[in-house]
Amino acid sequence: MGNFGRVLAYAARTLALLPLITAKLQYGFPYGKEPVRGVSLGGWLIIEDFTTHSLFDNTDTRIVDEWTFCQYQNKSVARSALEKHWSTYITEDDFQQIQEAGLNHVRIPIGYWAFDLYPGDEYVQGQLPYLLKAVDWAEKYCLKIIIDLYGAPGSQNGFINSGHQLYTPGWQANQTNVDRTTALVQRLVAMFKDKTHVVPIIGVLNEPHGSPDDNTLPVATQFYTDSYYNVRYPSGENASETDLIMMMHDAFMGVDYWDGFLQPPQHKGVVLDTHIYQMFSDADNALSFDQHIERACKNASIMATSPLWPIIGEWTATATDCGKGLNGRFTGARYDGSIPGSVRVGSCTGLTGNASTFSAEYRQFLGQYFEAQTQAYEKGGLGWVMWSWKMEDVDEWSYQKGLEWGWIPQDLNQGNWPSICEGKW
Ligand SMILES: *[C@@H]1O[C@H](CO)[C@@H](O)[C@H](O)[C@H]1NC(C)=O
Ligand SMILES: *[C@@H]1O[C@H](CO)[C@@H](O)[C@H](O)[C@H]1NC(C)=O
Ligand SMILES: *[C@@H]1O[C@H](CO)[C@@H](O)[C@H](O)[C@H]1NC(C)=O
Ligand SMILES: *[C@@H]1O[C@H](CO)[C@@H](O)[C@H](O)[C@H]1NC(C)=O
Ligand SMILES: *[C@@H]1O[C@H](CO)[C@@H](O)[C@H](O)[C@H]1NC(C)=O
Repeated sequence: MGNFGRVLAYAARTLALLPLITAKLQYGFPYGKEPVRGVSLGGWLIIEDFTTHSLFDNTDTRIVDEWTFCQYQNKSVARSALEKHWSTYITEDDFQQIQEAGLNHVRIPIGYWAFDLYPGDEYVQGQLPYLLKAVDWAEKYCLKIIIDLYGAPGSQNGFINSGHQLYTPGWQANQTNVDRTTALVQRLVAMFKDKTHVVPIIGVLNEPHGSPDDNTLPVATQFYTDSYYNVRYPSGENASETDLIMMMHDAFMGVDYWDGFLQPPQHKGVVLDTHIYQMFSDADNALSFDQHIERACKNASIMATSPLWPIIGEWTATATDCGKGLNGRFTGARYDGSIPGSVRVGSCTGLTGNASTFSAEYRQFLGQYFEAQTQAYEKGGLGWVMWSWKMEDVDEWSYQKGLEWGWIPQDLNQGNWPSICEGKW
């Protein structure tokens, strides 16, 4: 073969490889080019009194989370209540409505016990077939799923939303817990690495406790590094990369804490999840409507400094902690001073519950705060995932109710408050 022939052969080989090269790192969604607009299916595959009171009403008063739900009542009673809940709370119709609302992502919280139950774990299994159904529905309605590991063995935060409320997190205190979580990440990767057009993102650990009082942060940091390789290079560090994205929560440290960690361009396919709620302190509850909105707008420039891909994976258009069960099954609220030691701001009446009790002024605020946040989170980062799609009777937290009552626009490209952040960025 002469030089010319070699050049031709080289060109032909390069051309033949081109689809492979360009096919590499085809994430399931044009992240960074189009905004992520999503909702969580909260309270579905991990139950919470806050989202679904009806499951908890009339149960033993020691029942405060999914662990105790399975511990303090007959397991078969728990199992049948859960089966009924999984099969009715979220159905294909929800996926259709989510698509019609112009949303493009659905975040699904799930616990380790859906996959792996140890002796002594109180939980009941049966969630996995519903996760797989959700993946099929998402594919049908062209929605993208973020699977988010909410409950790790031992609990990574001790919060109710991890399945098991504990005084201090237990996950980081026992390497067996961490190893089980790593094995679960590997299993999720094997399940979905060839289905990234429907499941583009795996959230490897939701809200690990970042407090200096325990050792969660260093353990979570090492776990994130390991998970990066498990998600991106499941066949070994120098083998081909997957198109799967690893999402890591900021462990309440703020996005800038993670500057330099798994940083691009050496590292690809990492999303940094952070949650914004302006209600979990007395001071936040005391802010005026305008102050809430101003803070939300300012978040755009704070997020924009991150070298990673920040996403607001949880937030709400609600400005108070009034929602029944938000702070725990039998816990009150800071806003009305019913949590002992909190500073009362005012009455919760008219701020929570059935939207028919909300004033026009309050509904207008919910709409303005919704749009201030969606605009800020799209401007400063990859976008947003609101908590939550459906709420049983805490309407101010419900995307569905917002659509129904009009504080959330039917067409997300045609909001009612396009200039809400003007002068506030
Ligand atoms: C749990 O409930 C089932 C069905 O009602 C019953 O057969 C079983 O004896 C109960 N088990 C216990 C430990 O109470
Ligand atoms: C760690 O967890 C495993 C599995 O739950 C248990 O067998 C073991 O005793 C625990 N180790 C410690 C030191 O608590
Ligand atoms: C991957 O390649 C680098 C550079 O050649 C090498 O240093 C590293 O040890 C390799 N890693 C594995 C797991 O083979
Ligand atoms: C949002 O703003 C608050 C201050 O109002 C700040 O504490 C938080 O870190 C910000 N988060 C992001 C992601 O910008
Ligand atoms: C909310 O209030 C409306 C009007 O009073 C009523 O029709 C509806 O049933 C209520 N919803 C719930 C969940 O109670």
